[in-house]
Amino acid sequence: MNYARIVGTGGYLPEKVLTNADLEQLIDTTADWIVERTGVEERHIAAPDETTCDLAEKASRLALQAAGLEPADIDLIILGTTTPDHVFPSVATQLQHRLGCYGGPAFDVQAVCTGFVYALDIANRFIRTDAAKRALVVGADTFTRIINWKDRGTCILFGDGAGAVVLEAADEPGIIDCQLGADGRYKKLLWVPAGVSSGYEQTREEAAFVEMRGSEVFKVAVTTLKDIAERILSAHQMTVADVDWLIPHQANRRILAATAKRLGLPEERMVDCVRTHGNTSAASVPLALDVAVRDGRIQRGQTLLLEGFGGGFTWGAALVKY
Ligand code: UT7
Repeated sequence: MNYARIVGTGGYLPEKVLTNADLEQLIDTTADWIVERTGVEERHIAAPDETTCDLAEKASRLALQAAGLEPADIDLIILGTTTPDHVFPSVATQLQHRLGCYGGPAFDVQAVCTGFVYALDIANRFIRTDAAKRALVVGADTFTRIINWKDRGTCILFGDGAGAVVLEAADEPGIIDCQLGADGRYKKLLWVPAGVSSGYEQTREEAAFVEMRGSEVFKVAVTTLKDIAERILSAHQMTVADVDWLIPHQANRRILAATAKRLGLPEERMVDCVRTHGNTSAASVPLALDVAVRDGRIQRGQTLLLEGFGGGFTWGAALVKY
C-alpha cells in the first residue's frame, strides 16, 4: 500500500505589515484590546496588484525547493482558497501554468479556513490509490479583500498569506489519517452574504464582506478543535502524549490556548503564529507548519496533529508522521 509523505514545505507572507497601531487609526479600538482578545499584533496584507495565485506561487516554489524537486515532478495540484483570483478558472490551474507542469489534475477546494486540511486529505487519497505520485497541496488566501474595514469585530483578526507542502508516495506514513467534517446549519455565524449565484448587487454594500458572530464562532471552534483531536487520536490508539506538535488553525490566541488546555497539551508543544500572521484562512495551518519546520522545532520522525476550522462550518484533522 502506498502512503503519502511530506517532503517539503513553503510559506509566503506579503511584504506589507498592518500593525495594531495602524488599526487604531482606522477603527474605534485599541492595540491593547486587540492583543488581549485575539493575540494578534500584526498581519500581512497583499499589495493591490498581488493576488492569491501570486502568494501561492511563492509558497509553492519554496516547498519544491525544500523537497529538492522540480515543478515537472508534480502530477497533482490541490489548492484551498476562498478568495480565488477569478470566478474561474481555478487558482490551481493558473498555479500549474505559472509552474509549467501541465497535464495532471489541478483544482481548488472551498472549505474556508479548513481548505488546506481538506486539500491534504484529498491529495493523500490520490497518492494512496496510486492516482498521483507527487502532489502540491496549497492553502492560499487574500482574505483581507473580503474584509469590511469598518467592522472592528472582524478586520482586526485577518491577514493574507500562502502555505504549501509537497507530498510524495512512500512505503511508510506519512499522513497517518485525515478526518473531515462539516455542518451547514452554522452558515450565518460566519459568511459573506453576496455571491455569484445569489447576486453581488445586494441592498447592503457590506454584503460583499465577511460577517461574523464572533463569540458564537469562538465557542464552537474551541469545542470542535478539542473533539476532532481526540477522535482522530483515539482512532489510532494514541493520546495527546503521543503528539509532538499540535498545529491548529491560527484563529485567535485565546482559541488556541483554550484548545490546548482542554486537550491537556502543554502550550510549548503547540505552534502559534497568531501574533505575527493573524488568521490567514486556508493558509494558516501550512504557514504555521512551515515556520516550525524551518526554525527547527519540527524534526523528522515526529508526530504532528494539524487542525482546521472555518466557515460552513467545516473542520478537519490530519495526523502526520513527519
Ligand atoms: O477562522 C475561524 C473564524 N473566526 C474565529 O475563530 C473568530 C472567533 N471569535 C473571536 O476571535 C472573538 O469572538 C473576537 C476577537 C472576534 C471578539 O472577541 P470577544 O471576546 O468574543 O468579544 P465580543 O464579540 O463578545 O465583544 C465584546 C465587546 C463588545 O462591546 P459591548 O457590546 O460589550 O459593548 C464589542 O463591541 O468588545 C467590543 N469590540 C471591540 N472593542 C474594541 C469588538 N471588537 C472590538 C475591537 N476593539 N476591535
